[in-house]
Amino acid sequence: MRLADLPIRDELRGKEPYGAPQLDVPVALNTNENSYPVPGPVVDAIVAAVRAEASGLNRYPDREATALREDLAGYLGHGLTVHDVWAANGSNEVLQELLQAFGGPGRTALGFTPAYSMHPILALGTGTAWVDGRRNDDFSVDAESAAADVRKHDPDVVFLCSPNNPTGTALGLDVVDAVLAESRGMVIVDEAYAEFARAGTPSALTRLGADHRLVVTRTMSKAFALAGARLGYLAAHPAVVDAIQLVRLPYHLSSLTQAAARAALAHTGVLLATVEAIKEQRDRIVAELGVRGLPVVPSDANFVLFGGLGDQRAVWQRILDHGVLIRDVGLTGYLRVTAGTPAETDAFLAALDAALDEKGQQ
Ligand SMILES: Cc1ncc(COP(=O)(O)O)c(C=O)c1O
Repeated sequence: MRLADLPIRDELRGKEPYGAPQLDVPVALNTNENSYPVPGPVVDAIVAAVRAEASGLNRYPDREATALREDLAGYLGHGLTVHDVWAANGSNEVLQELLQAFGGPGRTALGFTPAYSMHPILALGTGTAWVDGRRNDDFSVDAESAAADVRKHDPDVVFLCSPNNPTGTALGLDVVDAVLAESRGMVIVDEAYAEFARAGTPSALTRLGADHRLVVTRTMSKAFALAGARLGYLAAHPAVVDAIQLVRLPYHLSSLTQAAARAALAHTGVLLATVEAIKEQRDRIVAELGVRGLPVVPSDANFVLFGGLGDQRAVWQRILDHGVLIRDVGLTGYLRVTAGTPAETDAFLAALDAALDEKGQQ
């Protein structure tokens, strides 16, 4: 009995699931996690908050996650309130809910590939057709070509990703404005890496008041170092939050998750203290790869995409053989590495040098 023997939906036949390797390696720089463990005082606060919930686990959690959404709105600022914010188990779930509400059979989503690989996978899972928009050779997206792609495909949902995974490229707000102006559908700006952006990089949060079709998604998985807690959220017009109520599972966000996230948000300053250190390592990786003559895509995220590798799969394997796991995102000649601690950067650069030497010897 194999998967193919099941009466699975036709469009899922032969498809691969999302599957970044989870390997037991000395240095894991492949899924853009925050390399710094949660600091002791925050661990204590999370444990105390979770403990306080434990005896009440016989009851369902607050279905609206009201207190958490208030805290998230307070963190985002921009005059946002609980009514403008929705939270779920990772921004992946938020994105799925958005597609359940605004995509679906007979509808189309447009994204600017290469971008976050889950966007088309979530489209597939929700029965939404997917179309690729164009990026320039340097992986940037400009307002004119984005608008032209929207005109051509007339999508119900547009995904913009800024800073973009896997390229690290941030978008100008002119692109967001142009896509909103040209489209009749929802425009989702995935800002999972916003906290790592270089000074002066704009957030689409500043445009929320201007159009009720704009949605900005964020996560606590990256800058907040809480990937394991699974907490993502969106900011949008309250009507968008109302729309999501039609598709969300009841009690989707456990009381333990809500409590842990609130405890972490009460320590925002401590948790985000690692962001500057990670940005330093990102900029160091960019500089070091440049010294090695490898083309590097400028990054506003906690990772770097670099090219000039020829058979990137073989280079990826050799780097892994030296104990460092980075990411082959399927772009010929390119690999992506997450910026972590200084020691992890040292290990990555040493493994890369060894891998490139071996390549030269072949
Ligand atoms: C661009 C982007 N959006 C969303 C996510 C999902 O993050 P999570 O579901 O952990 O919030 C990721 C994770 O890597 C990402 O790169």
